[in-house]
Amino acid sequence: MPMTDTYDNRPIAVFDSGVGGISTLSELTTLMPNESYLYFGDSLHAPYGSRTEEEVRAFTDEHIGRLIEKGAKAVVIACNTATGAAVSYLREKYAGIPIIGMEPAIKPAVEAYPGGRVLVMATPVTLASGKFRALMGTYEKNAEVIPLPCPNLAQMVEAGVLEGEALDAYLAELFLPFRDRPADAVVLGCTHYPFVREAIEKAAGKAEIFDGGSGTAREVQHQLRLHGSLTDRTTAGEVIIDNSDPTEERLRFSEKLLEVGREKCKARMSESS
Ligand code: DGL
Repeated sequence: MPMTDTYDNRPIAVFDSGVGGISTLSELTTLMPNESYLYFGDSLHAPYGSRTEEEVRAFTDEHIGRLIEKGAKAVVIACNTATGAAVSYLREKYAGIPIIGMEPAIKPAVEAYPGGRVLVMATPVTLASGKFRALMGTYEKNAEVIPLPCPNLAQMVEAGVLEGEALDAYLAELFLPFRDRPADAVVLGCTHYPFVREAIEKAAGKAEIFDGGSGTAREVQHQLRLHGSLTDRTTAGEVIIDNSDPTEERLRFSEKLLEVGREKCKARMSESS
């Protein structure tokens, strides 16, 4: 079925409610540096995690529609919240264009700790979505899967709070109920959270952290291969970052996060090699 000898040099669209999806963009550009990317963050309307599912679907539909008009060959919804609210709708609307969403990495966490306690950090909208409930239903017979809503955490990252006392205090309170019954695994179910991974690690005690970003990047590569639409470029592709908050400050911050994200990917790869 797959056409492996065709190629497509159009960009891959990557969308998030704000700057969080840059963690996924970092994974994508590390795995497939010769592809080009059009990133759009909707920071003007972030956080999506405290909006209604209908609002999230409407914003996501509008922005992804525009990215497709600009010629994207595939779309990555680098946002768990927007995926839960809009992925099925968008796949139906844009049949033929691969649309890859995010999903909290519960599967690898449960497989690593069968019978263990797995906390899933995510926005309230993600945790209330039918998609998440179905995912949890699949795995809760194999482990104790506990949703942990983090209402303000993505917003802290949007505001540039990546470390410090306020963040540590927020996380300490979040993990307080688990001080006497610590988790084995903590799943980062929002693409903003990898940027505060170190602070989460501190608050989560001995729990192992699971992040779906690299798995999503591999899935994107797989889908492009299936569609015969990987690039044949032999040099680095272009990465364009845009935002509904088009201030210089937002764009600089986004570029800084891409650098931070790519450093983290590199460090992880050299650790595992
Ligand atoms: N980055 C988004 C996610 O993965 C959500 C952040 C927000 O609340 O806007 O769920």
